[in-house]
Amino acid sequence: MRNLIDINSLENGIPRKLLDTAKFYKNQGRGLLEGAPLLGRTLAMIFEKPSTRTRISFEVAMTELGGSAIYLDSKSMQMGRGETIQDTAKVLGRYLDGIMMRASKHETLLEMASHSNIPVINGLTNLSHPCQILADIMTFEENRGLIEDRLIAWIGDGNNMANSWIHAACIFNFSLNIACPKGRLPNPNIISWAESKNANINITEDPLNAVKNADAIVTDTWVSMGDNSIKNPKKVFSKYQVDEKLFKNAAKDAIFMHCLPAHRGEEVTKDVIDGPRSVVWDEAENRLHIQKAILSWAIADKLI
Ligand code: CP
Ligand code: NVA
Repeated sequence: MRNLIDINSLENGIPRKLLDTAKFYKNQGRGLLEGAPLLGRTLAMIFEKPSTRTRISFEVAMTELGGSAIYLDSKSMQMGRGETIQDTAKVLGRYLDGIMMRASKHETLLEMASHSNIPVINGLTNLSHPCQILADIMTFEENRGLIEDRLIAWIGDGNNMANSWIHAACIFNFSLNIACPKGRLPNPNIISWAESKNANINITEDPLNAVKNADAIVTDTWVSMGDNSIKNPKKVFSKYQVDEKLFKNAAKDAIFMHCLPAHRGEEVTKDVIDGPRSVVWDEAENRLHIQKAILSWAIADKLI
């Protein structure tokens, strides 16, 4: 089954091929793609949390590949009033060609995948965000060249995006410095997995130290959707704001990355996110091209 649960659960070589395919689709331009590779195919998009980019990029990607997408708010499905994931997965498989799910708990996504006879794609969970990280790697490489052997600095919460950056560091062979407050470290199992792969990942509490010579500084919201565990985010994270001062310690041509939505004046200053180093709009756009690659691989087994 061609599921995308996380990039480290993909067969060797597939993450790079997804990037190449996305680049190919980007070069084809917008509109219906030649050959309409997903003609007559339908994707369900189930959301347990809000979304702008993920929902729209997946829906447009299906349209431009010749297929269609159905938006489903989990609360308005029978799932929302107790129908099991198992029964839902079995029913969906009778109508559809793929499921993209944004789940509050990663376990829900795994359960959906374990009962599904059609591909399941992770559209963000509390643990990870694989579609976003692929778009981010694509964006880094468009702006700064191959990511292999480069240094990325993650500043802020050790959240789902931080976890996906750890996966990416192992798969695409780059170094990752993570600066996060005590008690806000990335997932310990993912850290152990990275250690077992001899990944070059350094975790510190000091942002200045983490960004030294970095090719990109990456951050994300201080409070992820559905996370009620941080009582006073400002107190916990104020020293982790990405500002121009931090960039003085990074490589001269370092870029700024953020998966969005952003909170100016919290995790990043306006100067930085709206300034010349910022590639956040490219990241958002590349979600569309990456989704096309993921969908044509998962549903039609087509990669460049
Ligand atoms: N970056 C991202 O996944 O955005 P949405 O929450 O808007 O989908
Ligand atoms: N860490 C953020 C990412 C949003 C795309 C969240 O989970 O809310």
